[in-house]
Amino acid sequence: MARFSILLTVTAFASAVLTQSTNMTILNPILPGFHPDPSCIFVPEWNSTFFCATSSFNSFPGIPIHASKDLKEWSLVGHVLNRREQLPRLAETNRSTSGIWAPTLRYNKGVFWLVTTLVDDDRPQADSSRWDNVIFQGTNPYDSKSWSNAVHFEFEGYDTEPFWDVDGKTYIVGAHAWQVGPYIQHAEANLETGKVGEWRTIWNGTGGMAPEGPHIYRKDGWYYLLAAEGGTGLGHMVTMARSKNISGPYESNPANPVLTNANTTSIFQTVGHADLFQDGSGNWWAVALSTRSGPNYVNYPMGRETVLTSVSWPNSSFPTFTPISGSIPAPLPPARPPTSLPLIYPLVTTPEDITFPSSLQSLPPYFTHWRYPAPSSYTLTNSSLRLTPSHFNLTALNGNYAGPLHYPNSSSSAAPGQTFISRRQTSTLFTFSIDFRFTPDKLNSEFGISAFLTQNHHIDLGIVLLPRKAATDSFEGSDSRDPEELIPQIRLRGMSYKTVPKEVIIPVPRVWIEGELCLEVRADDAAKYVFSVGPAKRPEMREVAAWGNELVSWGFTGVLLGAYATSNGGEGRAVGDITRWRYQDRGQVRE
Ligand SMILES: *[C@@H]1O[C@H](CO)[C@@H](O)[C@H](O)[C@H]1NC(C)=O
Ligand SMILES: *[C@@H]1O[C@H](CO)[C@@H](O)[C@H](O)[C@H]1NC(C)=O
Ligand SMILES: *[C@@H]1O[C@H](CO)[C@@H](O)[C@H](O)[C@H]1NC(C)=O
Ligand SMILES: *[C@@H]1O[C@H](CO)[C@@H](O)[C@H](O)[C@H]1NC(C)=O
Ligand SMILES: *[C@@H]1O[C@H](CO)[C@@H](O)[C@H](O)[C@H]1NC(C)=O
Ligand SMILES: *[C@@H]1O[C@H](CO)[C@@H](O)[C@H](O)[C@H]1NC(C)=O
Ligand SMILES: *[C@@H]1O[C@H](CO)[C@@H](O)[C@H](O)[C@H]1NC(C)=O
Ligand SMILES: *[C@@H]1O[C@H](CO)[C@@H](O)[C@H](O)[C@H]1NC(C)=O
Ligand SMILES: *[C@@H]1O[C@H](CO)[C@@H](O)[C@H](O)[C@H]1NC(C)=O
Ligand SMILES: *[C@@H]1O[C@H](CO)[C@@H](O)[C@H](O)[C@H]1NC(C)=O
Repeated sequence: MARFSILLTVTAFASAVLTQSTNMTILNPILPGFHPDPSCIFVPEWNSTFFCATSSFNSFPGIPIHASKDLKEWSLVGHVLNRREQLPRLAETNRSTSGIWAPTLRYNKGVFWLVTTLVDDDRPQADSSRWDNVIFQGTNPYDSKSWSNAVHFEFEGYDTEPFWDVDGKTYIVGAHAWQVGPYIQHAEANLETGKVGEWRTIWNGTGGMAPEGPHIYRKDGWYYLLAAEGGTGLGHMVTMARSKNISGPYESNPANPVLTNANTTSIFQTVGHADLFQDGSGNWWAVALSTRSGPNYVNYPMGRETVLTSVSWPNSSFPTFTPISGSIPAPLPPARPPTSLPLIYPLVTTPEDITFPSSLQSLPPYFTHWRYPAPSSYTLTNSSLRLTPSHFNLTALNGNYAGPLHYPNSSSSAAPGQTFISRRQTSTLFTFSIDFRFTPDKLNSEFGISAFLTQNHHIDLGIVLLPRKAATDSFEGSDSRDPEELIPQIRLRGMSYKTVPKEVIIPVPRVWIEGELCLEVRADDAAKYVFSVGPAKRPEMREVAAWGNELVSWGFTGVLLGAYATSNGGEGRAVGDITRWRYQDRGQVRE
């Protein structure tokens, strides 16, 4: 029988079963790569496990759930958003900044709750259809199917969270930064039905831009309200206020901001959007998002990542946070039960080397698409993972396409169903490559790999059928044959709000054409990607170009590395057959 083989470092699993040492060092980021807006909980009832949810924007499956026993080793255990019927509108979001923003994960009386916002960034700020606020409930974070369909509720804003008060009342808290705000509001809510009461402004923050990401904690008779302010760039910070009455008035902490890396030289910048939780020994911890950009804030392709820090929270006073850096001089957490996470879940740092053919029923759970995929475009054949090309390329410009999926032809528009399968860039230094077979059949028929940030920011190295005369360079010297003849060419091109280097087009060397090829992107430093191509069976790779990763350093998401297939709006139907898929983590830059 054909076998799917996935070579994972088994020792990495073994190390998940840690001893009960309390002196280990935890390294940041705890969730490297595209894992922004973390919200975490500790659940004693689930074998004393920490669970975190993060934002996923237009990617699918969405809202990843990571679990850990010790705060150090994390595994992806599921996705809240894993079926199209849960939230069909994710297929229609019109901008690259749209999709799932800032979930809050909570556990209450045996149920996991996830409250978040599906944003359509195309709509006016004051249009409530821009903010599709939703509630999911789940019974088993290890079983993605246990998450419910979305229950929608009315709120003109985002970053919503549930809160259960001691008097039995349930609230939703949320924020809105611009035009109609800024404000942090709450309302009583029925989480089962989505019915909400009257929204009341409880705090406006300390005056920083965009007070958002609110979380309420009840402690020592106080309601502590935590918020992010300053926007999600270099001025990002965490502030707090408190009140004896959940409805306010809230008094601002004189020591604000409680956590920020603004005006520091740390590589960890944009620290903010925090959440607080307590471990089994009563110690407090905070997670936040951070961007490893340094204060230059130019090269940060992994975007906003999840970092952890320790917190001291004495009775009846505001907490103090240890500033974010590359490691947490950990005390704690406490002695853990002699169990680890089920071994089927690889650690986030596990390298991968997947060879097809395959007998798998489905692809690894961390494989990621942009909006909902057309499932029939990804098939496991007897000898490959086969990608069937989509009409749209990764930019999803509409052109004159008049088919059923009609979307506006602006560069910020998008359509569902682009053929793209990827994983997150999770280390500063890495090598990602695929071996494949592909014979383009029509003009513009294309298959390749991409460093993809959004539909408006991606760098693609592909094989595409183009006239010979389109070549900008050659591995084989000049060629005087018919300049109009359509031939397979290696093409590197990009899309970005920043200036993109001129595209590189090189005819596929004749001796390579019949065999499998390998496309590779690697980072040998924190500022650029090197793109290479070669025959899969031989070691030598030819460098196509090295481009700065500032092209894909922007906005809310982080780079996905993957493979795509497209007709670029043309007649091409040629499929791409992936036989090997590799990601090697070659190191993190932490300072
Ligand atoms: C942790 O380290 C401190 C200082 O190095 C030491 O005093 C303490 O005994 C260690 N604790 C454990 C549990 O190893
Ligand atoms: C807790 O761990 C035990 C094994 O020690 C396992 O049988 C059980 O399923 C786990 N329960 C949960 C809720 O994780
Ligand atoms: C996206 O734009 C299209 C075309 O204007 C529109 O039909 C669709 O409703 C929009 N999607 C959302 C979620 O607003
Ligand atoms: C928040 O600001 C609004 C004006 O934008 C003001 O009407 C309101 O009183 C403020 N609320 C609080 C709690 O400070
Ligand atoms: C809390 O504040 C709300 C709104 O001002 C008020 O109606 C309520 O009576 C207050 N509750 C207490 C216990 O003071
Ligand atoms: C950073 O410095 C600027 C300029 O001095 C100041 O306006 C800003 O408030 C500082 N930000 C933080 C979060 O301290
Ligand atoms: C702090 O509060 C906890 C619970 O609220 C209580 O058990 C403890 O005695 C308090 N400690 C001090 C020093 O007041
Ligand atoms: C795949 O393998 C099975 C069993 O070996 C065979 O019956 C089937 O025809 C093969 N399919 C293709 C597309 O080669
Ligand atoms: C698409 O572009 C054409 C020409 O540029 C324009 O006339 C048309 O209105 C556009 N359609 C949409 C839906 O934006
Ligand atoms: C995407 O395809 C369209 C044609 O459908 C083409 O005009 C555009 O150049 C392509 N853009 C990118 C960045 O691939």
